[in-house]
Amino acid sequence: MTELPIRTLHLLAGAGPGYLPARASSVADGVDQVFLFLFWVSAFFLALIILLTIVFVLRYRRRPARLHPEPSPAHSTRLELVWTIIPLALVMALFVMSTRTWIQMTSADPGADPVRVQVTGRKWSWWFDHPGGKGANELHVVAGRPVELVLSATDVIHSLYVPEFRLKQDAVPGRFTRLAFTPTVPGSYPILCAEYCGTDHSRMLSTVVVHADQASFDAWAREGLPADATLADLGKQVFAEKGCAACHSVDGARGVGPSVRGLWKRHEKLADGTTALVDEEYLRESLVKPGAKVVAGYPNIMPPMPLEERELKAVAAYLETLAVEGGAPAKGEET
Ligand code: CUA
Repeated sequence: MTELPIRTLHLLAGAGPGYLPARASSVADGVDQVFLFLFWVSAFFLALIILLTIVFVLRYRRRPARLHPEPSPAHSTRLELVWTIIPLALVMALFVMSTRTWIQMTSADPGADPVRVQVTGRKWSWWFDHPGGKGANELHVVAGRPVELVLSATDVIHSLYVPEFRLKQDAVPGRFTRLAFTPTVPGSYPILCAEYCGTDHSRMLSTVVVHADQASFDAWAREGLPADATLADLGKQVFAEKGCAACHSVDGARGVGPSVRGLWKRHEKLADGTTALVDEEYLRESLVKPGAKVVAGYPNIMPPMPLEERELKAVAAYLETLAVEGGAPAKGEET
């Protein structure tokens, strides 16, 4: 709690923008303008009211010469005009400033050739489908090139928040919301979830990478696997890119869901008391209908995560490489 007064002192002393995150998007200036306007207007009137309170308390205090309050005027047109026109002007200025910024961040310029990215929020990770079919758990954009984000969610309401861009927008299941902006400074900035969404809300983090130029972005988008990559390598990539690792560890550690180390071809005890063999069919069903077979001791909260057949085979191959020594069944047991 000591941080706030210190920051306020910095602000009052007019210290540099160090107390606010860097401004790295086309809408950041507009947002800060509204914030600083509100701050200084409030600070001014707070000081004025405190000052007047002190003056009136001293000046009109009870004294031997004045035991009763003097009569006050019943009406003053001039005063009423002053306290109507000044607040009206301030509120109108605020309305114009914030509406301009709001329009800027919710409607993309159709002629600007923006990078369109489909953003999906889910418990508890972000997923970004970039142009050209490249999906990733990080957002990639280019400095100086307009971006249009279309947001949605698969389970509950999340909120995409990038402090350096001064942008925050709800991602709502069953509908689309939009954000439009142009990143201005190359670098990496944190993405947070700003709408409480359950157990791991505070860990629903990601990163936005602002590439310095289009060539760097293209190189990232083309970045693939080496020619000699195995199916398991691809599976490892799918596992990471689809955000599976957020809940399922690969080292045996207990997470939101069961670890995938040693999981393959194991007979798992389910919540309903039965057991099930973890094989390709089990994996396929679990991705489409996660609630069908829930491992005992874990919550039934996984969102559906349908994969292409190619991706599913690859993840199966990857999980097979994670089967622990001795945990793998005899060859004859496989189907
Ligand atoms: Cu997602 Cu909070």
